[in-house]
Amino acid sequence: MQRDWGKVIEFSGLPHVDRSVFIPETVWVVRDGGFVALSRRDEPEAWDRLVMSDEPITTQLKDGALPTSSSSGPSVMAEMINALCLNAGMRVLEIGTGTGYNAACLAALGAEVVSVEIDPAAADQARHALSAAGHPDVLVITGDGEIGAPSHGPFDRVVATAAAHTVPHAWIEQTKKDGLIVVPWAATFHPTGPLAVLTVRGDGTAEGRFTVPARFMPLYGQRLPQTVLHETEERWAAAGKPEPSRYGVTVNPDGQHIWLDSPDNPIA
Ligand SMILES: C[S@@+](CC[C@H](N)C(=O)[O-])C[C@H]1O[C@@H](n2cnc3c(N)ncnc32)[C@H](O)[C@@H]1O
Repeated sequence: MQRDWGKVIEFSGLPHVDRSVFIPETVWVVRDGGFVALSRRDEPEAWDRLVMSDEPITTQLKDGALPTSSSSGPSVMAEMINALCLNAGMRVLEIGTGTGYNAACLAALGAEVVSVEIDPAAADQARHALSAAGHPDVLVITGDGEIGAPSHGPFDRVVATAAAHTVPHAWIEQTKKDGLIVVPWAATFHPTGPLAVLTVRGDGTAEGRFTVPARFMPLYGQRLPQTVLHETEERWAAAGKPEPSRYGVTVNPDGQHIWLDSPDNPIA
């Protein structure tokens, strides 16, 4: 396959940002049921095809089997960015910088971006890529995003690009009243790990509904055993397989509950 080197690949719903600047020379792909390295130098066409595709790309692997960082699939990124209802000049906190590609897309839309990444090597690579792509103004903080970025708030928007089963209260405290928090949910009530879109009310609470499926790797501190997915599938099937959009979540300083159809019908 011929690559047009002068052309930035456009993904529907995303601004013009060249994904290839953010993808490391070696990534990880599944072949014959296991992860193998795909190197740009050895297989340039396969690397290009992957970068131009709508697939998530594993960029870091632990113990040869556990993906710990990735570039999310572009159409899921577009869904999340769309859910953020951004205006230029908004301050956005991203949790999970990863490659920096999503942060660059947010910046290209005019947001002031602060992004927190727990893995120091990923954070360093993202800083370099963001500078190379013309977005040195994106602030990448190395640290645990569950505490947010207390000295850089308040934010108009918070977007997590790693899945949570519990919304850290710091995210609500650091978001302005009527601001939005967009977070992919771990598969604790719906097997597709749908996206939650919460509105912050300004009284320490946030509430919203789930939208589309968006499977993400978990936040480091919120990993769940594999058995949870199986249990969730069974419970969800027994409930008649409701669509993600029938569920919602209310979060307050004392905890959170997931509900079906209305906040007065909690299920967890
Ligand atoms: C799916 S990747 C993020 C994709 C990224 N936004 C991009 O555009 O490439 C998830 C990232 O979240 C990071 N992460 C996981 N737990 C975290 C935490 N508690 N705080 C900050 N980053 C975290 C991982 O190290 C990983 O790089």
